[in-house]
Amino acid sequence: RRVVVLISGNGSNLQALIDAQSYDELGGEIVAVISNQVDAHGLKRAKDAGIDAVALPHREYESRDAFDGALIKVIERHEPDLVVLAGFMRILSPRFVARFAGRLLNIHPSLLPAYTGLNTHARVLADGALEHGASVHFVTDELDGGPVAIQAALKVEPGDDEETLKRKIHAREHLIYPIAVRWFLEGRLKLDEEGHATLDGTK
Ligand code: GRF
Repeated sequence: RRVVVLISGNGSNLQALIDAQSYDELGGEIVAVISNQVDAHGLKRAKDAGIDAVALPHREYESRDAFDGALIKVIERHEPDLVVLAGFMRILSPRFVARFAGRLLNIHPSLLPAYTGLNTHARVLADGALEHGASVHFVTDELDGGPVAIQAALKVEPGDDEETLKRKIHAREHLIYPIAVRWFLEGRLKLDEEGHATLDGTK
């Protein structure tokens, strides 16, 4: 089973997936890593692991549609069973989402459907929320709105600030993303026709 990972930055989630693969725990192979930022550290992580690393700078395309078209081409060249967004900071067009529907996963630093969008840690703190977490979800046209596959929750402690939350959430992301990818590649995690995420056939 073949996986393509899209990144924009540090790629610590990518690293968690690479590590899982090295322990034979991913259920497939990361065949390419694509970044819209040429200087993304994740590209180095990919190269160090012997994975095809591709920089596709969105600024060189005149429109979102042109970029997405180029991105689709590069991805399809690698014939993936699954496309994984791991800190990919571009909103994808409906055309892109439709092309990879049901085989497109994202990870988001909140307990979705709470706190879609950016700056989740700051908003959680400002609200005095007692719980926070991370979610892996199927990507649909609604930003951070697709059906959730797996979540990890944590209590917000009195001393927490943005930095501590970021660190704790990242640690949980690194646990749940490889699990979700393995479930998908093993055929256990699916997006059904009604748009629900199912695990072993159960919603
Ligand atoms: C993660 O917090 C993820 O939830 C969000 O972007 C961040 C990526 O971090 N979508 P990294 O590049 O994997 O370290």
